[in-house]
Amino acid sequence: MDSTDFTARLDAITVDELRAGGGSKWSRHPGTLGAWIAEMDFGIAPPITQALAAHVASGQFGYTTNEDKAGLARAYAQFARRRYGWDVDPAWVRPAPDVLAVLGGMLDHFTSPGDKVVLPTPAYMPFLTLPGLHDREIIQVPMQRTDDGGPHPRWTFDLEGLAAAFEAGGKVLILCNPVNPLGQVLTAGEMLEVADVVDAAGALVFSDEIHAPVVYREHRHTPYATLDARTAAHSITATSASKGFNLPGLKCAQAVLTNPEHRQRWAQRCWAVEEGASRLGYTAAIAAYDEGEPWLEQVLGYLDRNRTALTDLTAEHLPEAGYTAPEGTYLTLLHLPRLGADPAAVLREEAGVFLTPGTALGQGGEGFVRLNFATPLPILTDIVERIGAVVRAH
Ligand SMILES: Cc1ncc(COP(=O)(O)O)c(C=O)c1O
Repeated sequence: MDSTDFTARLDAITVDELRAGGGSKWSRHPGTLGAWIAEMDFGIAPPITQALAAHVASGQFGYTTNEDKAGLARAYAQFARRRYGWDVDPAWVRPAPDVLAVLGGMLDHFTSPGDKVVLPTPAYMPFLTLPGLHDREIIQVPMQRTDDGGPHPRWTFDLEGLAAAFEAGGKVLILCNPVNPLGQVLTAGEMLEVADVVDAAGALVFSDEIHAPVVYREHRHTPYATLDARTAAHSITATSASKGFNLPGLKCAQAVLTNPEHRQRWAQRCWAVEEGASRLGYTAAIAAYDEGEPWLEQVLGYLDRNRTALTDLTAEHLPEAGYTAPEGTYLTLLHLPRLGADPAAVLREEAGVFLTPGTALGQGGEGFVRLNFATPLPILTDIVERIGAVVRAH
């Protein structure tokens, strides 16, 4: 399908169709326009549909095979080489049901009771709650939003705050790149400054790179583990085809273990994590990595159009929201303090739009909402117009 047809097909998807489709984004909060959970409204790549259909026809739903694991490791290694120039040895790639399961395994088996988790905020919501379930306390380190009066504020790490958090018992830093919820793609320079602090503290990094396939043209994803020998040694990378290829319900993520000692420990302690991945998930992830890139490029083109359209839409309807076109992800923050500390609650009631509340993103999220713009442009336009009308009325 050429890109004009692709765009026209996505533009034509209606709210009624999305509601009838039954996905989480459109079914969990009836009567609202869904702009919250990180799902895309664009279906999946045709080669993935075909691979899943062939798998269903085969009737093979027994336990995971060694071929499944080897196929996934090979497919991810090849994808990472093509896409990020990262020379991944397939032996480093281990399966998991999802990225959060990799984090759980790391907390249980690579940290000890009493160790604390260091989290730059605003952050992806479960990062604030999951460590507690593993009896690991969180130290939030708010990022600093450069408010130079310009239209495009950027968020930067508080390096002194990070160092203080490690001194206070921090053992593992959760680093998310591209950053959910900020939409920023971290530069090598930004990450190396963080790496210096981690290295000085003798700490570890959980590098969540789940959004790495979703990076827009002038930006490039740099895997944290590729920065230097220190970052390869002190990090575990977690990624998945689930965001870029819209497959989170199929449960197949990847841990990339670049430190040989970590690989040994993972093999001894995390086999149960690996067994949580689903066989259909392997099939989908392998098809995504091997054959999904043409579709991914079309979706990136569509999302790029949406993020650019948002520049005009917010200039017209939400000039004070501080919208900065994301460099990666299909998520962005809008600053709407005129609606109080929890603008998402107001917008749910008065605009009929369901957004992720900034209050769920940790310190620094107050007054913000997180918008998922992976939706047809006519629906995105309706969403922004509705938000604008409510903000003007307050
Ligand atoms: C940054 C980030 N990490 C992890 C996840 C969850 O991924 P998984 O379903 O693989 O646990 C998400 C989902 O939106 C996410 O945005």
